[in-house]
Amino acid sequence: MRTEYLVKWSWPKNIEYWVFKQCIGTVLNFPSGMSRIGYRADIDPVVEPDIIMDLEDPIFEPQSFDTVICDPPFKMFNKWRWILKLADIARKRFIFCYPGTMIPPMLKGYGKAQWIAIQTPGTFFIRHFLIYDRNIMKL
Ligand SMILES: C[S@@+](CC[C@H](N)C(=O)[O-])C[C@H]1O[C@@H](n2cnc3c(N)ncnc32)[C@H](O)[C@@H]1O
Repeated sequence: MRTEYLVKWSWPKNIEYWVFKQCIGTVLNFPSGMSRIGYRADIDPVVEPDIIMDLEDPIFEPQSFDTVICDPPFKMFNKWRWILKLADIARKRFIFCYPGTMIPPMLKGYGKAQWIAIQTPGTFFIRHFLIYDRNIMKL
């Protein structure tokens, strides 16, 4: 398999720690890249994931992890169906790293996302995160 991983994709330590602090309960990190948080799934064996898997064909059951983290490659943003499937795997929270150039989508079963932008230290580069929490029915 062709090695795809680019070192510049890696979250700096402070961002990795911030993402970790946003997680609740059990965590699926998909695609994980080199990030060490939670149960790690990725298509590229070079990053030594816990499981090798394609984002477009996940095997996890709906709501099988409390939190799902997703930091996809740019090429995945021309399709949407896979994001809906991935968001379905989270029981409580879906954390999505995304290009700030688009309007945050609404996801079925979730409230409006919190939108957080974090500057990469020593650069002008900003990473955007959307944090979606599941709607909880109040009686
Ligand atoms: C932006 S990087 C993730 C970086 C990660 N946050 C880190 O700190 O290292 C995107 C990852 O998506 C993986 N990837 C690319 N296409 C994929 C696919 N179809 N299914 C699953 N993973 C894929 C790449 O191997 C890469 O590790």
